[in-house]
Amino acid sequence: MADIQNIVILTGAGISAESGVATFRGPDGLWEGHRVEDVATPEAFARDPELVQTFYDQRRAKLRSVEPNAAHRALARLDAEWPGELLVVTQNVDDLHERAGAGRVLHMHGELKSAWCLACDARVRWEENLLGGPPCPSCGASGRLRPDIVWFGEMPYEMERIERALHKADLFVSIGTSGAVYPAAGFVQTARYLGVRTLEMNLEPSQGSIFFHESRVGLAGELVPQWVEEMLAS
Ligand code: APR
Ligand code: ZN
Repeated sequence: MADIQNIVILTGAGISAESGVATFRGPDGLWEGHRVEDVATPEAFARDPELVQTFYDQRRAKLRSVEPNAAHRALARLDAEWPGELLVVTQNVDDLHERAGAGRVLHMHGELKSAWCLACDARVRWEENLLGGPPCPSCGASGRLRPDIVWFGEMPYEMERIERALHKADLFVSIGTSGAVYPAAGFVQTARYLGVRTLEMNLEPSQGSIFFHESRVGLAGELVPQWVEEMLAS
């Protein structure tokens, strides 16, 4: 590990599962109870904004009753103690990485605690409901706020910054993602093409497992603290 300076870590819903936050695919996954096309596309929002806002209002409210788990805390420790560059690119829209203390976090699929005003295009920090909630704090418009979530068919945030980080990385780590959704699912292939070492930690083999030099199968709450200990001891 001594030759590792710069690390890019991709996280998915599996890192928040032990905190009680629902994943998308698999038993009790969010896509078991809702259809993507009803709640996670621009067309769905145009067709039934109240349904979409309620879906995200419920997920935002749920964040008040969950806590970061050992995996989030271990990544926050690595973020604080790692001497090289480190970037946590998360597909998750919860705030558990930040609440665990991680500082270098990039939400490529947006955040539940952000809202996007369609009147003034501002992204504003958001804690309450969108449906029937207060007006835009930036322009005062009412009823013009949408979830600041990257829906299917929309462009993820900060792709250039992610690509730059991958080009500088010595290690790419993927934690708790099924590898079902691009472009995130393609990061490991980019890393391999660039000669970056790759490690996966997941409850079960993912769709991208074949691309990883090493795959560790198990609970993120156990695997991630172990891995962070290894990195900080190296
Ligand atoms: N520890 C480690 N991995 C876990 C755990 C756990 N405790 N629990 C579940 N997992 C794994 C599952 O095995 C699965 O492979 O986490 C993965 C979660 O996969 P998904 O539910 O597909 O979530 P994710 O990969 O983050 O989805 C990607 O899809 O719906 C879109 O935008 C949404 O960001 C999301 C994207
Ligand atoms: Zn506004």
